[in-house]
Amino acid sequence: MGRKKMELKITRKNEGERGKLPEDESTLGFGTCFTDHMFSMYYTEERGWHGAEIMPYHNLVLDPAACSLHYGQMIFEGLKAYRRDDGIWLFRPDKNMERLNASADRMCMVRIDPDFVINALKELITIDQRWVPHSEGTSLYIRPTFIATEPFLGVHPSTEYLFYIILCAVGAYYATGFAPVKIKVEDKFVRAALGGVGFAKAAGNYAASLKSAEVAAEEGYTQVLWLDAQERKYVEEVGTMNQFFVIDGTVITSPLTGSILPGVTRDSVIQICKSEGISVEERNLSIDEVIKAIDDGKMDEAFGSGTAAVITPVGSLGYKGKEYKINDFKVGELTQRLYDTLTGIQWGKIEDKYGWTTKVC
Ligand SMILES: Cc1ncc(COP(=O)(O)O)c(C=O)c1O
Repeated sequence: MGRKKMELKITRKNEGERGKLPEDESTLGFGTCFTDHMFSMYYTEERGWHGAEIMPYHNLVLDPAACSLHYGQMIFEGLKAYRRDDGIWLFRPDKNMERLNASADRMCMVRIDPDFVINALKELITIDQRWVPHSEGTSLYIRPTFIATEPFLGVHPSTEYLFYIILCAVGAYYATGFAPVKIKVEDKFVRAALGGVGFAKAAGNYAASLKSAEVAAEEGYTQVLWLDAQERKYVEEVGTMNQFFVIDGTVITSPLTGSILPGVTRDSVIQICKSEGISVEERNLSIDEVIKAIDDGKMDEAFGSGTAAVITPVGSLGYKGKEYKINDFKVGELTQRLYDTLTGIQWGKIEDKYGWTTKVC
């Protein structure tokens, strides 16, 4: 809109001030090992997006009245970069930016320019490349974060925003690594209703899920499987993964109704299955049908998909106080194959015929 193209300023940490890399990558875990730099930019109505800068990782200064802190106008993304023999690569960053803008639209926030942000992200990763871990199963998790910053008390869309990206060296999301998890079918609390913000990666969705996860953890479960908010009848998704069931050879997952997150990994799994001639259905699947398939011996296997969770086998479901084992609590054959194919593409061990990977440096 006649505004000047934004410049990207880069301010590096001095060599001597750089953080210490983890000594043992096998203990990385998830979400604690942040890198030396971050990217940020600002939005105001007068200036549009401006002040794009890569700079040392630092604490934010926010007005205590910043409206995101009160009314939750706050969204984020999650994607990964992988160290390969031929450099560092990103997996489908365009899909994450597309989803970020879809979330922004729903939350009355201002769209970002995906190309500008992906380029800035590549610069940031290049600067912090020593943080991308080397061991198999590890990666660099990328957290684009978008918050409303206008100081006011009152409910209306903010006129000011901060967008930033931080990076984090990570290992496996679940402490158990690539192994079956126990999932509780949640029939009391709900995550998102039709017409709500379930399809957006809105911070409040996660706050709303905490109570259910806490109760489930006390009962020995890793996460919960949400049912639809209207009838508690249809399976939707798991805490941080989309959910797939393999019934009688057919892969079934919830359709994108608006109450679940349109996972990038979900989309990738569906495309891989279709290209391998595996039958896939995106349809409403009732919890009764799931339980019946298990009882009838027709539930071949089940797994979740997500950037952090990759492909995670689901070994059992807890529903109404009863435990239902799936595939004898073992990793299913298709689950393993999908894990191998997806991570093979991400780590450059299998040809990326889909064009999903893009080189950073
Ligand atoms: C609620 C929810 N569903 C699904 C997913 C999987 O999405 P993606 O494959 O894009 O990581 C996530 C991922 O973070 C999530 O938070």
